[in-house]
This record gives sequence, C-alpha cells and structure tokens, in this order.
Amino acid sequence: EKGGYEHFMLKEIHEQPKAVQDTLLRRIDDDGRICLDGISLTKEDLQNITKIYIVACGTAYHAGLIGKYAIEKMARIPVEIDVASEFRYRDPVIDEKTLFIAISQSGETLDTLAALREARSHGARILSVCNVVGSSVARESDDVFYTWAGPEIAVASTKAYTTQLVCMYLIALYLGDLTGNISREYYDHILEELLAMPDKIQQTLDKAPEIEELARHLYNRTQVFFIGRGVDSAVALEGSLKLKEISYINSFAIAAGELKHGTIALMEPETIVIALATQDRLFEKMYSNIVEVKARMAHVVSVAKEGNDKIEAESTEVIYIPQCDDEVTPILTVIPLQLFAYYVAKIKGEDIDKPRNLAKSVTVE
Ligand code: F6R
Repeated sequence: EKGGYEHFMLKEIHEQPKAVQDTLLRRIDDDGRICLDGISLTKEDLQNITKIYIVACGTAYHAGLIGKYAIEKMARIPVEIDVASEFRYRDPVIDEKTLFIAISQSGETLDTLAALREARSHGARILSVCNVVGSSVARESDDVFYTWAGPEIAVASTKAYTTQLVCMYLIALYLGDLTGNISREYYDHILEELLAMPDKIQQTLDKAPEIEELARHLYNRTQVFFIGRGVDSAVALEGSLKLKEISYINSFAIAAGELKHGTIALMEPETIVIALATQDRLFEKMYSNIVEVKARMAHVVSVAKEGNDKIEAESTEVIYIPQCDDEVTPILTVIPLQLFAYYVAKIKGEDIDKPRNLAKSVTVE
C-alpha cells in the first residue's frame, strides 16, 4: 500500500507532481480559463464582497498565508488571515460582505469548523478548500473548492499543502478576473507557470539524494532557523513545522527582515540557518540578511532559483529550484524542506508516519 516507499510520507511527497496536476486540470477548461463548476459565486456576489478572511490550522494555515499574498495581489481585495483557534474567540468583524475561506485537508478539524460556523452566523459567505468530499467543512460551506491530492495518510501534511497552494492561486486568478484587476496577459502567464509545475516539482524531487546527504550532515543538530522574505517567509513557517513535527528538532521560522529586531542574538558559530532566497524582487534584501547571519559564522543552507549563483559566496550549501515566476515559487521551495525533514527524521530513526503526540485529524479543542 506504500507503493514501494518506506513511509507514507515519502510516497506522498513523490505523489505531488500528480496531485498538483490533478488539482489544476479539474479547474481548467479547453479554452485555458479557470472554470469553477459547482461553485456559485458570481460577479454580482463578488461586487458585494469587501473583505476576505482565510482561516485554517497548521499546514493549511501556511497555505492560507500564500493565498493572502496571491489574492491581494491579483484581486485587490483585502485579506485577513488567522488560525482558527484564535479567530473563533476574538470577535472578528464579519458581515454579509465578508467572504470566509476555510482551508482544511481533512474537513474535520474542530477549530476550523467552529470558526466557519461563527462566520456563517454573522452572515459571511463560506468557501472552503478541502480534500475530503462530504466532510463536515465541505458540507457546511456554500461552495467547496476540492484539492485532488488523494488520501493523505502520513500525519505530516505534504501533498495537501501543495494542492492547497494551487487552489489559492486559482481562486486568486479567478477573483482577479471577476474584479477586473488583472490583465489577460498576467492571467495567462500565471496559469502557464502553474501548468509547468508538475514537471518542475519532479525536477526538484530528483534532488532527493543531495538533500539526504545534507540531512546526514545536519541531523544531530538541536536547533534550526528558517528565514525568508515575502512568500518565502510563509514557506519558512511550513519548512520549520515539517522539521519539528517529525524530527523533534527545535526549529524556528522568522521573516528575515525581523532578525535584527531580536532573534539575531541567537546566531553563533555553526547555528543552522535555512535561508529561502527565491524571490527575484527581494533578492538583494535577502542577500544582505544572509550576509548578516554568515557574519556570525552561521552554517547557511540557501534555497535559490537556478542561475542565482551569486548566493554561493555566502552559503555553506545551496539547493537550487527551477526558474519560475516569484508568485508561484512556494510550490517548489517547500519540496526540499519536506525532503529535508523526512531524511533527518529517518536518519534519527523516528516514527515518521506517526510522530509522537500528534493525530492526523484534530477533532478536539
Ligand atoms: C502538519 C499538519 C497539521 C494540519 C492541521 C490542519 O503537517 O498536518 O498542521 O495541517 O492539523 O488539518 P486540516 O487541514 O485537516 O484541517
């Protein structure tokens, strides 16, 4: 049932090209436009929407962070994002002009479901991004945008995350089109970039031996930092969560520009810093942050787009991902981080598919 893989997590990591492809193709018609079959949100509905909330937990929340970047950029609608356990108790400002997007792989996470009910009771329109047909979140939503990841068995979420990212981009493009805030050229360009993702994910997966080697060097460290700017700061959170949940290494993610406001105090010789530097737009700023941690003798593992070899001067190791538009890099950037977490846990001999203290679906508060 693990298809020849040693763990479900590794199998699911390798299923990502197909899962992303399936999620995309379900929503693209013969004319190369996004079709939201079964989703009733119209242009008129959207004209009444003044605000979007994205609410989720854990990895799904991290996908939501990328969704906020994409929706604000493409549709120019303000997006607030919160973890469900906070949202439901903080008296958020919601009314009929609010679109509430819940993201949940299982569709059974109690906090997400309770947040959804709270939003609904204030009149919000509910759109959910979900992997399980007929789940509680799906049933209680006005519209459901399914991820086509297939069953995810490993506790650590991988293919659910990348397919949730695809959904967030498709929703952003769709809303951008309805609001008239993106050009046809940009819409077509991002769709093309997305359609190229399955191959590029595969190319990134092919680097597994290189990442396993890195894990062999670093598995016995007790502390790892993940830094990045823009969408990379959100991917840093996901990379850090993956590592801590299955390898039990104390990891911490922070927006790179925030380092100097406190956290840089923790840098000392050989501190591991995984620096995500995939954003062309922010490359020089990120480079300066890497120089700052390198000056404290940190061991810097950078993730960058192919061709940006300038980064090698300041990095102990560099993992390259294929070239792509800044907007959609998270789908690729997360791959080496998933593999790194996996190999570290494997070398440490941990129970990868069933990490201690964690359940696949959290149906308690
Ligand atoms: C981490 C992980 C969890 C879930 C979270 C939400 O790898 O799996 O953080 O993402 O519990 O679960 P769903 O998406 O089922 O609501």
